[in-house]
Amino acid sequence: MTKLDTAEFMRQKFILELNGALAMENAGLERLQTRISETIVPEAKQQMQHHLEESKVHIERLHQLITTLGGQPYQGKVGLPLPKYPQPMIEKMNNSMTKPEWELKRSEEDLISESAESICYLMLIQKAQMLGGVFQNTIEQLSLNMIDEENMAEWIKTNTPAMLDKLWPQIEEDIASTPLESSPATSSQSR
Ligand SMILES: [Fe+2]
Repeated sequence: MTKLDTAEFMRQKFILELNGALAMENAGLERLQTRISETIVPEAKQQMQHHLEESKVHIERLHQLITTLGGQPYQGKVGLPLPKYPQPMIEKMNNSMTKPEWELKRSEEDLISESAESICYLMLIQKAQMLGGVFQNTIEQLSLNMIDEENMAEWIKTNTPAMLDKLWPQIEEDIASTPLESSPATSSQSR
């Protein structure tokens, strides 16, 4: 491969990586919209609305970086890196978990996906540093995106105790009012 071919090859590779981040933001945006509409915690709703606006800016930045490098911004979405529980487990969850428990589970998933986004940017920034040259010009914008992702993940971590304080009494109340035969503790499968 000539030097020119190598440079072109690296450019294409980096555009692919940027598009990977873009596809993750696209998926994250959709998830945020769903979470904003379903969450039962007003503070979380407000924070996610704020992050939704940030995510739109992230997408705009990525579009800009990709087109500047001569690439085509990807319109699709990645599958988010969330746990896929085995069928019997998910059935048990569906049969036994109360609304506030689901809220906590979704919040756990929020933290996983925001952390994954920040990891994605961290790796991209380090690759841009290795590549140097024109790729280094992407670092500033990628860092701005990464900081927002880190802050969002941090917000979830910091606010989890307050969320638990709020939701836990509801969970206990729901469990106390569940008929014995359907409570998880007395189900034969759980023994
Ligand atoms: Fe995010």
